[in-house]
Amino acid sequence: MRAFSALVFAIVYATTSLGAAVSQRSPHVEHERRSFSLENRGWRLARRMEPEAVLPLRIGLTQPNLESLEDVLMKVSHPESPSYGQHWTPHEIMDYFQPARETMDAVVDWLTSSGISKERLRLSKSRGWIEVTASVGEVEELLNTEYHVWEDGDGLERVGCDAYSVPEHVQPHVDIIKPTIHMGAHVRPPPNSYRKRSLSERATTTPTVQLGMPSSHNGPKTNGKKVDGSTTLGLADCDEFITPICLQTLYNIKTTERSGRNTFGVVEFTPQAFLQTDLDMFFHNFSATQVGQKPQLISIDGGVAQTQNQSFNFNGESDLDLEYAMTLTNPQPITLLQTGDLVEGAGFDNWLDAVDKSFCTFEGGDDPTQDGIYPDPLPGGFKGPESCGIIKPPNVVSVSYGQDEVTISAKSANRQCAEYGKISLAGTTVLYSSGDFGVAGFGGVCLDRLPNGTLIEDPNGAGSIFNPSFPGGCPFVTSVGATQVNPNSTVFEPEGACEQVIFSGGGFSNIFAMPSFQQSAVQTFLKEHPPPFSGAQFNNSGRSRGFPDLSANGANYVIAIDGEFNLVFGTSASAPTTASIITLINDARLNIGKGPVGFINPAIYSPVFAATFNDITQGGNQGCGTGGFTATKGWDPVTGLGTPNFEKLLALWLALP
Ligand SMILES: *[C@@H]1O[C@H](CO)[C@@H](O)[C@H](O)[C@H]1NC(C)=O
Ligand SMILES: *[C@@H]1O[C@H](CO)[C@@H](O)[C@H](O)[C@H]1NC(C)=O
Ligand SMILES: *[C@@H]1O[C@H](CO)[C@@H](O)[C@H](O)[C@H]1NC(C)=O
Ligand SMILES: *[C@@H]1O[C@H](CO)[C@@H](O)[C@H](O)[C@H]1NC(C)=O
Ligand SMILES: *[C@@H]1O[C@H](CO)[C@@H](O)[C@H](O)[C@H]1NC(C)=O
Repeated sequence: MRAFSALVFAIVYATTSLGAAVSQRSPHVEHERRSFSLENRGWRLARRMEPEAVLPLRIGLTQPNLESLEDVLMKVSHPESPSYGQHWTPHEIMDYFQPARETMDAVVDWLTSSGISKERLRLSKSRGWIEVTASVGEVEELLNTEYHVWEDGDGLERVGCDAYSVPEHVQPHVDIIKPTIHMGAHVRPPPNSYRKRSLSERATTTPTVQLGMPSSHNGPKTNGKKVDGSTTLGLADCDEFITPICLQTLYNIKTTERSGRNTFGVVEFTPQAFLQTDLDMFFHNFSATQVGQKPQLISIDGGVAQTQNQSFNFNGESDLDLEYAMTLTNPQPITLLQTGDLVEGAGFDNWLDAVDKSFCTFEGGDDPTQDGIYPDPLPGGFKGPESCGIIKPPNVVSVSYGQDEVTISAKSANRQCAEYGKISLAGTTVLYSSGDFGVAGFGGVCLDRLPNGTLIEDPNGAGSIFNPSFPGGCPFVTSVGATQVNPNSTVFEPEGACEQVIFSGGGFSNIFAMPSFQQSAVQTFLKEHPPPFSGAQFNNSGRSRGFPDLSANGANYVIAIDGEFNLVFGTSASAPTTASIITLINDARLNIGKGPVGFINPAIYSPVFAATFNDITQGGNQGCGTGGFTATKGWDPVTGLGTPNFEKLLALWLALP
């Protein structure tokens, strides 16, 4: 999201004169305020920021046409649309969403009339961002705020403010400003104590996860059960041990002819890392011809597959994702989007920057090291250039990470969600896990509503309002929930919602409105199976985004980790399994000269696709002191539309243009 050219800027803004007078007249109005307390999330207020310290200020400009993003996506993604599959080029996307001239003028006038000379401003090629390196004193005056240094549990420092304002006449032109309440997207999960309490309530032996991990980690859980070295696992054992053959049978995955041109990306956040020895150990038992096969690592913002720290918490997610994605799609090469350096880690915007040139584009020919915010002014930061548009988005991207929706501002969530929509418009399918705590947030934390309507996470872990996840609740990603082979059942019997160790994340967003493609399915659920909760506990208006969209097995996965076989649980497993199925379908389409399926939500909710899912009608997703929602006939906020039947999906998607 960096990538700025002074040259372009100077040409575009040869003349601006109105600004000074206007902005002096216009009073500041509050633009954004953090809705949760950093202290409650394990942060410590370290000190007031020194006024002469320097901030890399980035001002996100309001983008036009976002209100029609869903419509244009429907045109290329709805199976009955005459332009199905006609994805846009990155250039078309950039043109359509680039901020209007008057938007840039208004922001530039404000900055220059506030004493920041035009020469200091940089403008991204996409015209999405204006950037200026400014002193804390300047920024505090500009935004009518105060900056503090915060320290997280690991002693990592971040800079931010609690709220900020902009002049009233500028406000419609400004989307978000960073770093402010966003603090670089590194919002931590709740402190361990909440997590431990809620997990022990469930009487599992699950160790806590997310220790020192990228903030927004939604890692798999283990029940601590080792897999006995003497077992030979097969189809008869799938209720206790999921191995690739179980998934292939459950979801009717058949081998197809390969195109050799397909791409499949798996995102991991450093210090999460896979171990090649683990992959090989897994392949040795479950896919012998793959021993020695490696993912293709793309390093984003200093991303490395570190090997110095090895434990379940460091290796669980990456080992799980890669072992199953690589085996289920073999011989498909897997692109590992390893995001963030060892010091800072990274947030979701970072991998988007790396694949999305319209989000983050360098002016052609410029030396990126001269244009941007690096070297990072913060101690210990990544010193290289930000990874910007370094790789074409893979046809499918699987991300098993998430955060509570309440921990991201609505503006930030909307901006990020729109980016998923844009890369979907270009033909990429983005899948996110829906969360592992049922209707509760990470660690079983639920929400309270303040008298003024603001939702906050209950600091004592006692709230009664459901706590949806993000980005799983963004309408432009495909949100994946978890199922299980019921105890003592076979893979030929219907699965239930996952109720072992984890509960499938699901519910209704407090930020995103219901997209048209799920309206009929979700409103039918609310009408025919009204949940026994009031509108005070979740948004039951039938106008908010329901999730997940679909689901896949997330219980008892056998993975090789740190040199032994363990069992893991989570929507973290469901996402790469579903992504693998979409990848195989894309490959079959590419093989007959068609394009990738791209954004799948409008298709999977359409009536013609109804028979391609195994409807899940058993189990629920308890949390917040309730039984949660219940899986029912048709879509439900536990397992979505159900689990995929590969062969049926393939037949439909091969027939589409
Ligand atoms: C893996 O294979 C070894 C033999 O090579 C066998 O002893 C072991 O039981 C297998 N483990 C699993 C989990 O299948
Ligand atoms: C990771 O390993 C390094 C080097 O051995 C050590 O200093 C650091 O504390 C470890 N981090 C964690 C979270 O264990
Ligand atoms: C709502 O009330 C809380 C607590 O009094 C306050 O911190 C917060 O800023 C208020 N939010 C808004 C949007 O007024
Ligand atoms: C599964 O079968 C075993 C052995 O027959 C039995 O002990 C166990 O209670 C059964 N579990 C369930 C959930 O039915
Ligand atoms: C429920 O969601 C809709 C759509 O986003 C929104 O308009 C409405 O205000 C929400 N209701 C409540 C009580 O938050």
